[in-house]
Amino acid sequence: MNNGLDDVVATETVMSDVDGLAGRLTIRGHSLDDLAASSRYEDLVGLLLDGFVAGLAQSEELAADLGEARTRVFEQLVPACAGLGPLSVTEALRAALAQLADGEDAATALRLVAAPAVLVPAIVRLRRGQAPIAPDAGAGHAADMLRMLRGADARPAEAAALDIYLVTVSDHGLNASTFAARVVASTHAGLTSSVLAALSALKGPLHGGAPGPVLDMLDAIAATGDAEAWLEAALDRGERLMGFGHRVYRVRDPRAEALKRSVQRLFASGGEGTGRLALAEGVEAAATRILARRKPDRPLQINVEFYTALLLEALGFPRESFTGVFAAGRVAGWIGHAREQALYGRLIRPQSRYVGPLPDRAA
Ligand code: ACO
Repeated sequence: MNNGLDDVVATETVMSDVDGLAGRLTIRGHSLDDLAASSRYEDLVGLLLDGFVAGLAQSEELAADLGEARTRVFEQLVPACAGLGPLSVTEALRAALAQLADGEDAATALRLVAAPAVLVPAIVRLRRGQAPIAPDAGAGHAADMLRMLRGADARPAEAAALDIYLVTVSDHGLNASTFAARVVASTHAGLTSSVLAALSALKGPLHGGAPGPVLDMLDAIAATGDAEAWLEAALDRGERLMGFGHRVYRVRDPRAEALKRSVQRLFASGGEGTGRLALAEGVEAAATRILARRKPDRPLQINVEFYTALLLEALGFPRESFTGVFAAGRVAGWIGHAREQALYGRLIRPQSRYVGPLPDRAA
């Protein structure tokens, strides 16, 4: 039985549409290409939550409220992060987020949006033995996230690259984490519970956990110096190439295109690591060729995770924090979907078909 629910339409939504055949992503009436070219993450938060969260401000007022929410999150949640040492970054993020009370109001929604952007840099710094850095409520969301990571202002080109990334991953149809958020929202458990469920789903390597392994793959290929041989051997061992393939796209993932352009611009603006970009472009070309030959019935091209790995590495995020940075973008989509489900949906309760043994009635 196909239990991946591939062809099941489980809900109607005004949030986003993934056209897997045309390679198009539409978010609340706008194409991803337009949004990635001109929007700040703050604008996407307003767009995704519009009409779903009562009392949410718009535009510059919303950006200011989000800055305030970063400050509240830092004061409220970061102190407890110091005791989360043995957990992975994503597990520590989940544990810290779980301190937030449930609610459906604008303050809860904005704190949840702000939380990963504040907590991921704080957790990374604590793991390095460095003190967390407080947010600057007046700064742009992406620029502030980089400042909290590094302790110094990022170049405008770097802040713009992170903004494009957060916008690009902000929503994407009924992916596994968003579906998890909606299932929990359908019980009216509250927004924090929905976001925690979504983050747990995002953590897995088949969803948001892939960009770290993309870098592991690039490192391994760089060490051998022979991309073709390494890729063929990995596929011979039955391994999947991280950052390739997608459940819905049958052509190139449009997010991968937007992020590749962004990485190219970032490196052209004076960032380090052009050798890494050349390696990645070479691996992309070789893997696309090899996968087309080995899996002719299944178009397998790069997905959003492939150039995410390069972008986040170039911005200074350690690879174990990549899933948390993904959450910093996707959280607005999770909240919009959760509110849409709570307002307009019903309890999600599908059926299963029992195929196990029947009770022995002989006696
Ligand atoms: N490398 C090699 N082969 C692959 C890959 C890959 N990355 N992806 C799929 N295939 C092959 C499978 O082995 C299978 O071949 P078979 O029919 O000969 O057994 C065929 O393509 C179909 O695979 P499915 O498992 O049915 O594809 P599914 O739609 O379930 O997979 C997924 C989608 C999970 C993303 C998959 O492509 C994958 O594992 N990719 C690598 C991990 C990754 O990049 N994850 C991030 C996804 S993007 C995101 O969630 C944000």
